Amino acid sequence: MATDMAEATTAAVLEKKDNGVMPEEKKLHVIFVLGGPGSGKGTQCEKIVENFGFTHLSAGDLLRAEIKSGSENGTMIENMIKEGKIVPSEVTVKLLQKAMQESENDKFLIDGFPRNEENRAAFENVTGIQPEFILFFNCPEEEMLKRLLNRNQGRVDDNVETITKRFRVFSESSLPVVNYYDSKGKVRKIDAVKSKEDVFENIKLLFAPFIQEKEEVEVGSLN
Ligand code: ADP
Ligand code: C5P
Ligand code: MG
Repeated sequence: MATDMAEATTAAVLEKKDNGVMPEEKKLHVIFVLGGPGSGKGTQCEKIVENFGFTHLSAGDLLRAEIKSGSENGTMIENMIKEGKIVPSEVTVKLLQKAMQESENDKFLIDGFPRNEENRAAFENVTGIQPEFILFFNCPEEEMLKRLLNRNQGRVDDNVETITKRFRVFSESSLPVVNYYDSKGKVRKIDAVKSKEDVFENIKLLFAPFIQEKEEVEVGSLN
């Protein structure tokens, strides 16, 4: 199953080569990581990176870095984030695509993306990439609210007013994307209310197909 998807992705990337969209030979494994704000996506992505050799690309982190870089889109992105709104896909897809092109890795966790149908369609049209599966963090709002208010990362959007807006955007725009992938049998749902360690125990099972590749990396690094 995983192999079939990887082949499909490779073929799609190859088709796009004449547009210079992606390097010709890159065989990519892409997993979309979705779930409400504060459900623990970033926390678990770090663990997956350490254990399975993926590169973590958080769309939110890339957008915040774009603001800091002094980009011409910076003010627009900042205003959207403060309002909990979804930044136009053109901007976000470009940032994700650039990060994938600059990476030497072929395994990516794309976290917090696609947030709406426009994100999903734009990524597919521009890169031709289909995700292998969707890692979905299921968490009630009450728990997410508690976590966000304790996050303490100085984020402009971790306040009750913006969080309320982000929850609404998640239900109205992001959940339909999860349902779309669910109808294709691609969603792997995780109970995100458990402890960080227990959540990761469940995630590990889904990443079993990638264990072999991690061992190869370890053996390689000894030589
Ligand atoms: P997301 O990326 O989905 O918005 P984060 O990974 O940033 O969420 O987690 C939000 C906050 O909740 C962080 O402060 C994090 O340490 C905490 N957190 C993450 N997972 C858990 C968990 N399973 N139990 C309790 N707190 C958690
Ligand atoms: O995923 P994260 O919580 O870091 O996202 C923070 C904010 O970044 C979102 O509320 C949204 O304003 C913006 N964002 C976006 N499009 C994405 C991901 C994040 O506009 N695909
Ligand atoms: Mg996050």
